[in-house]
Amino acid sequence: MFSILKKQRSSKVSIAGEPAILEIPRGKTLLEAMLAEGLAMPHDCKVGSCGTCRFKLMDGKIGELSPSALVLERDALSQGYRLACQAMPRSDLVIALDAPLSRQQAVESFTATIVATSRLCPDIINLVVEIDRPMQFSPGQYADLTGPGMAEPRSYSFAFAPERGEAQRLEFHVRHVPGGLFTDWLFGEDRIGQTLDLSGPFGQFRLNDSSAPMLCLAGGSGLAPIMAILQQAQSMGANRPVTLLYGARTRQHLYCLDEIEALSAAWDAPFEFVPVLSEEDAGSDWTGGRGLVTEPIARLPGLTRTEAYLCGPPAMIDAAEAQLIQHGVLPEMIAADRFLDKSTMR
Ligand SMILES: Cc1cc2nc3c(=O)[nH]c(=O)nc-3n(C[C@H](O)[C@H](O)[C@H](O)COP(=O)(O)OP(=O)(O)OC[C@H]3O[C@@H](n4cnc5c(N)ncnc54)[C@H](O)[C@@H]3O)c2cc1C
Ligand code: FES
Repeated sequence: MFSILKKQRSSKVSIAGEPAILEIPRGKTLLEAMLAEGLAMPHDCKVGSCGTCRFKLMDGKIGELSPSALVLERDALSQGYRLACQAMPRSDLVIALDAPLSRQQAVESFTATIVATSRLCPDIINLVVEIDRPMQFSPGQYADLTGPGMAEPRSYSFAFAPERGEAQRLEFHVRHVPGGLFTDWLFGEDRIGQTLDLSGPFGQFRLNDSSAPMLCLAGGSGLAPIMAILQQAQSMGANRPVTLLYGARTRQHLYCLDEIEALSAAWDAPFEFVPVLSEEDAGSDWTGGRGLVTEPIARLPGLTRTEAYLCGPPAMIDAAEAQLIQHGVLPEMIAADRFLDKSTMR
């Protein structure tokens, strides 16, 4: 079932309940090797912050890039759970997973050339790159981009649903984080023609096969994967009511308004767009929502039947999740994608 890489200085990994053996080249994490093999190992941050990629170490030795103990509870650690994104095999391993693995698109590396950039709002640009060959991905997923001279990649969500599941021209909505290595570089001057290393696709945030009403909640550039998921739902003929809560600082920071209007006009079921501004001047003539984008949640009807898709800054998502659960939404009905950056990672 799994293909076997015949490389020296590698470790063999047996997964309980799976007949085949995965071989991991030295220097790769367990998660990297699994994704490169097209195994749909759950993951989110890939930096040891979210705990999504946990596995149970049954036998063998690993080194850890950062200790699993920073994220996993003591009980889980004593049962042998560790983080696949931080695990470097030091011997052959036997591992167990909480759920059987399915197959997905294998993660690959590409060369990306920046072909266009345009300002969407004061602090977000639409970054368009062309990669050396088409890539398959699902709306909601993301790619890792490494700029010139950068030691580590940064993650960006695909901002559109690809036709027939693949594309060679990719778009990302990138928000400027002052003091940030990649975004200071990108926003610093015209970067058209520059090349980036790109790998992907990553991530488990995607449209579920369901007919439940959708509550989408986005903050800042978190709108990118939400728009991609809504476009996909529409192209699949979804007939589900949608509420889209969108949080931005001021009216100037609202973007994609024409696209949202077009989506809403062609949507087959009720579609409510609720923009909420956190820093709009108190004296302005804005009549829409003010404050935190999570505040309208408590007033939404029929929440217990809703499926939620949340994307944006980690603090916003934590607050939204807590509110949704408090109002009766089951945790398994909430899909979330946290835009972690260096300031929010452990
Ligand atoms: C799955 C995922 C998807 C994402 N998708 C998107 C997207 O579609 N659009 C988007 O705009 N962003 C997205 N992000 C965020 C993105 O990956 C970057 O983190 C963000 O753009 C900042 O990158 P940077 O290199 O400019 O900043 P960084 O260099 O990473 O720095 C970020 C901030 O942290 C501070 N900082 C740096 N080092 C430290 C440190 N050691 N301790 C404390 N603070 C520090 C910096 O001063 C800066 O303010 C996503 C993140 C994830 C995890
Ligand atoms: S993907 Fe490993 S901790 Fe988040």
